[in-house]
Amino acid sequence: PFSQIRQSETSRSVDEITRGRRLRRMRKADWSRRLVQENRLTVDDLIWPIFLCEGENYSETITAMPGVERYSVDRAVRQAKKAAKLGIPAIAPFPRENADFKDLTGSHVASPDNLINRFVRAVKKEVPEIGVITDAALDPFTTHGHDGILRDGIIVNDESVEMIVRGALSQAEAGADIIAPSDMMDGRIGAIREALDSNGFQDVAIMSYATKFASAFYGPYREAIGTSGLLKGDKKTYYIDPANSDEAIREAEQDLLEGADMIMVKPGLPYLDIARRLKDTFAMPTYVYQVSGEYSMIKAAAANGWIDGDKVMMESLLAFKRAGCDGILTYFAIEVAEKLGQK
Ligand code: PBG
Repeated sequence: PFSQIRQSETSRSVDEITRGRRLRRMRKADWSRRLVQENRLTVDDLIWPIFLCEGENYSETITAMPGVERYSVDRAVRQAKKAAKLGIPAIAPFPRENADFKDLTGSHVASPDNLINRFVRAVKKEVPEIGVITDAALDPFTTHGHDGILRDGIIVNDESVEMIVRGALSQAEAGADIIAPSDMMDGRIGAIREALDSNGFQDVAIMSYATKFASAFYGPYREAIGTSGLLKGDKKTYYIDPANSDEAIREAEQDLLEGADMIMVKPGLPYLDIARRLKDTFAMPTYVYQVSGEYSMIKAAAANGWIDGDKVMMESLLAFKRAGCDGILTYFAIEVAEKLGQK
């Protein structure tokens, strides 16, 4: 016991105190460190979120996310090909829709011709070997930037779910492999599952953004999809309070009971405790979204020479593996895959 060790500490040598328990022994060489390594990041753990915009053979930079670009659909398909060649299992498109397509109810989510659906059809045709994961939340399509339908200052739940289901169905029709709704409306997983099944899409899976927190780490993403200036108020009435952890368990449990095949935690690094709790509680495929703010913080510090960007990138991703995650949505996906491929 520690108390005994402490009592006699002064009179004993370090060797007597540690008695055979020298944990540094296995850290002494690269080969022994590799031998005892418990977790490993591989390319199979990566999901690449990619931003879409209108245009042809076109791409543009995103100021708040150095190194990340928005791509026209044709260029995005080329990027998907590159990702597939690197061995990245799946890609997750997010659109910056033009203002003309936005309305109060986000109805463009269900259009077969929106950016997501055009991209999905093109990728499934030209790069069939990569998995495509689509979000059916309404925020890229609403004039107010909320994930649901806004009525009299309230995000109305059930009507929002109806629209999200229409979006999910249009994505399944376009060929999406996994529907990943990020809106946090109650009951959307069950409603999406039912709609998919009754329309012949039994094999389309659902990855639930089960525990999405009302976080300030999403800032750069809103620049990326062009919703930063639009958002009225905040998302606290539907995302989880960052102070809560038991509530995250209840959210995930409900989504799993409604038919989610995979669950996700978002953001990532500040919520590792949630990932670990979900994995231990449900033993289900568990994912994490290393969000835009996390990415940009690392990039900004690295650009200033304050941290080693490459090393921090790898360490941050390994931390998700240690926390029990089966995969990671990360804007670093291409960089990481290239790095892992060099070894
Ligand atoms: C909204 C959505 C968000 C992100 C993806 N979809 C959060 C938000 O804008 O409130 C964040 C992703 C990121 O920050 O990288 N449905």
